[in-house]
Amino acid sequence: MNIAILGYGTIGSGVHQIVEEGATLLTKSLHVTRILIRKGKEKTLPYMCDDIDDIVNDPAVDLVVETMGGIEPAHTYILKALEHGKHVVTANKAVVAAYLKDFNECAKENNVKFYYEASTGGGIPCIAGLEKALRIDEVDEIHGIFNGTSNFILDHMQRYGTSFEEVLKEAQRLGYAEADPSADIDGYDVCNKLRISASIAYDYHVPDNFPVFGIRNITKEDVMYFKSMNRSVRFIAKTKRDGDRYSCVVEPILFKESDLEANTQDNYNLISMHGKTIGDLKFYGQGAGKLATANAVVQDILDILEGKEHMERKYENKMKYDTTICRRDYV
Ligand code: HSE
Repeated sequence: MNIAILGYGTIGSGVHQIVEEGATLLTKSLHVTRILIRKGKEKTLPYMCDDIDDIVNDPAVDLVVETMGGIEPAHTYILKALEHGKHVVTANKAVVAAYLKDFNECAKENNVKFYYEASTGGGIPCIAGLEKALRIDEVDEIHGIFNGTSNFILDHMQRYGTSFEEVLKEAQRLGYAEADPSADIDGYDVCNKLRISASIAYDYHVPDNFPVFGIRNITKEDVMYFKSMNRSVRFIAKTKRDGDRYSCVVEPILFKESDLEANTQDNYNLISMHGKTIGDLKFYGQGAGKLATANAVVQDILDILEGKEHMERKYENKMKYDTTICRRDYV
């Protein structure tokens, strides 16, 4: 299978690395034949180019990996690739949250696949887990830690007494943080991941009209005070449904020392869901980072290679937003 990678930042280069290393028979059957880089950037490999048309018009390219991030030009390039009969795999939560339904329809019309496991929970196969749960149950709640950078910040402030700014710099150095880290600390990244998860769960394209409270104003002193009260603060996204009503919220919450959330350290995510027969399900792993996230991208590529279908969603349900549903837990 011949692959073109759009964007050669942390995740794009991670995908390239996993494919080049070809550690298993399956990954050995993948070949990166084109990489799209920004105009004006130095082409350090012979198959680098800066024109999307060279990629979509190349009949040898079977699948396009989009790891550019952001809405445009990612949105246009994904549609172009699908319309030219290329499968698309993306790690880009902003564009998936906004255009999930359109991409799905476009992929279907062109008889190709559009998969996005890496967009939510980094390396954790939480979309696959959610889809599996949905084969039997209505998933009525999803909540947890969906952002590695903010977890790294809150955890390191508490464990090492480091300041917010210092830990953020370290998260950027380690490749966890978004290009614009305000997406991580003000909750927009988590908002996108919650929209994607809730949209799949409810088969309804969830809009971004819910409350999002970030962690920007939490200081080392706040965290130390919580610690003295045997509490840890974690950045939580939550959605719940009650029939055709649902709510979503993103906010920092205090946890007891014995709670799993309080013990979720570094760049790890902990994503929990609930269904009637499965009960509580928890997914734990690296929610950010080059190779973990690239691993999720390559998993999607291999699903396409092997013909493993993901759950079909049409996003045609009618749901009503009811902010009281998440709030009932507090009264
Ligand atoms: N900046 C994101 C995070 C990357 O820290 O979780 C993974 O989506």
